[in-house]
Amino acid sequence: MDKIIALCKRRGFVYPGSEIYGGFGNSYTYGPYGSELKKNIKDLWWKMFVQNREDIVGIDADIILHPKTWEASGHVGGFNDQMIDCKNCRARLRADHLVEDALQKDCEGLPDEEVTKIIQDNKLKCPKCGSDDLTDVRKFNLMFSTQMAKTGDDNTAYLRPETAQAMFLEYKNILDSMRVKLPFGVAQQGKAFRNEITPGNFIFRRLEFEQMEIEYFIRPEDWQDVFETWLKTMKDWCDTIGLSAEHVHEYEHAQEKLSHYSKRTVDLEYDFPFGKKELYGLAYRTDFDLSQHQEHSGKKLEYFDDQTGERFIPHVIEPTWGLDRTILAVLCEAYNEEKLEDGSQRTVMKITPKLAPVKVAVLPLMKKDGLPDKAREVLSGLRDLGNCEFDLSGAIGKRYRRQDEIGTPVCVTIDYDTLEDESVTIRDRDSMAQERIKISDLKAKLSQQYFS
Ligand code: GAP
Repeated sequence: MDKIIALCKRRGFVYPGSEIYGGFGNSYTYGPYGSELKKNIKDLWWKMFVQNREDIVGIDADIILHPKTWEASGHVGGFNDQMIDCKNCRARLRADHLVEDALQKDCEGLPDEEVTKIIQDNKLKCPKCGSDDLTDVRKFNLMFSTQMAKTGDDNTAYLRPETAQAMFLEYKNILDSMRVKLPFGVAQQGKAFRNEITPGNFIFRRLEFEQMEIEYFIRPEDWQDVFETWLKTMKDWCDTIGLSAEHVHEYEHAQEKLSHYSKRTVDLEYDFPFGKKELYGLAYRTDFDLSQHQEHSGKKLEYFDDQTGERFIPHVIEPTWGLDRTILAVLCEAYNEEKLEDGSQRTVMKITPKLAPVKVAVLPLMKKDGLPDKAREVLSGLRDLGNCEFDLSGAIGKRYRRQDEIGTPVCVTIDYDTLEDESVTIRDRDSMAQERIKISDLKAKLSQQYFS
């Protein structure tokens, strides 16, 4: 991880947030290449799951929704972690993590008193200072709250902890405006906020992160088939973004540990350098959310089947993708150190070309004799392929290494012969093989070889 984090900073993928003030909690900034990578992932996801499908429509809702949303969804009452404080060094810890790390025991779902007893009976110590002077376990709600300017009895509002709920709030508007028929899905991408007690592992667990979620509305009797189809679709997505199948694992949640809304949950876990951890989730949310919102809002949220004349509340299968974890998995999968024939070593990010932050780099061999002008002319003919870069500085070998670390699939070099014969050298990132080709064939060749 240290090497990946260092590369992310060195090459403009991810910077520590608010660094000039000494950093701020678990805050990060996606740099120029990180934001390109992020945008490419979001765009690919939107294309695959919204634009290319007739059964899914997209929305873009506010982060602050009506506070009743979170009462109905169960987040005000139940979106808690168990925390414990060290009285000696004031560290705030997740009780379940403390027990799991020390005793390899899963205490998820146990009452606060029982977890307190496990910690005290086993004399567990604060991992920061070693003291066993710990408070009792108590619940901590993970939602960030804020105060609205309006006056009233209670002006508390919440930053959404998941993008999902707006899809339930807009379910009726979508039925009324979009002529959708079951089964259909609503998709959304955007920020979510969780006041995690122990954020960490770089961008893996953050206070502020992005999700890409789909609420897929179905007839209740179809849930098992639809669940299996989405599980396969999510694994196909992993393949599309370049995650190797051997690094992606299914984890079936035990019935007694399911979230309050779920009848079945399967996570897709990824082999991160710090262990096998949750990447995505797939849940059968039943009719829990729509029923809750119907009850709390007093608005009917039924579906009318004009073929059978039935009225019922649809059930929901929810595939959910964390965007920051996707970025991290793509970076971890891509990171390679290779020993070259001349004994040197190169670091190369083998990011799949459709996600690569820079598609093509055009490199004039020299800074003079008209080569930069020719390179700019070639570059302007390639812009349709996506984000392309012009790099003039340093020896050509160094410039190749830089592009390798950014993950640019192909470099185009302009040399003196180019001025004579209208041809260029292309260099493949992964094989480092070089090939001479005519400028007139360049765009079609790159498009077909890397981006089709
Ligand atoms: N709507 C269902 C839902 O929010 P979740 O498993 O709590 O389910 C979905 O979150 C995904 O969001 C996770 O699989 C993960 O990829 C991502 N995620 C959750 N908490 C996160 C955090 N603190 N930082 C970064 N990503 C997070």
